Amino acid sequence: MKKLRLGVLASGRGSNLQAILDAIDEGRLAAEVVVVISDNGEAKALERARLRGIPAIHINPAQFPDKHTYEEAIVETLKQHQVELVCLAGYMRLVGRVMLESFPNRIMNIHPALLPAFPGLHAQQRALEYGVRYSGCTVHFVDEGMDTGPIILQAVVPVLPDDTPETLADRILEQEHRIYPEAIALFAAGRLELRGKRVSIKEA
Ligand code: GAR
Repeated sequence: MKKLRLGVLASGRGSNLQAILDAIDEGRLAAEVVVVISDNGEAKALERARLRGIPAIHINPAQFPDKHTYEEAIVETLKQHQVELVCLAGYMRLVGRVMLESFPNRIMNIHPALLPAFPGLHAQQRALEYGVRYSGCTVHFVDEGMDTGPIILQAVVPVLPDDTPETLADRILEQEHRIYPEAIALFAAGRLELRGKRVSIKEA
């Protein structure tokens, strides 16, 4: 089977990138990560990519006059590597028009909350402070809003009485690592159908 060419954008630790790579290694995902790009030169995600011989590229937003030209550089790199699906994996910037228009309905994100609750930063801490009994994670297509795009998969975890933001984040992360590769595999298999805001999953 033809492998889907993935470009991963990550700003930090890269555990979701690792989960994608592990799913590929274990035969759960017919894809290959052909490039990893970070806005942060220190990102551990870049190191994880280099260890596997995957091109790992730091594109520093500070070196561009504006978001438009910064994103043009990202798009150029993604196109050079013939990327078919862009996966945001802890990429801590709002995606702009240039990327959206270059990869329409071809950018996915993982968010550590049950959207539309708690979009944006510090989602786990805000869920805890709000007092919700359940939280979780969401894989969605990216649109011009902040974590507002069509939802592909979600997973639920309980919030426990003694949770700290860290223990809750860890419980959620375990589910992120499970559903992100799963969502990408559904895309790779051509099983995701987008109608307006709703994503349906076609039978295998
Ligand atoms: C993950 O929890 C991911 O859901 C979150 O950042 C973390 C990155 O971890 N993303 C966002 O909050 C995006 N708004 P990782 O670098 O180990 O994959």
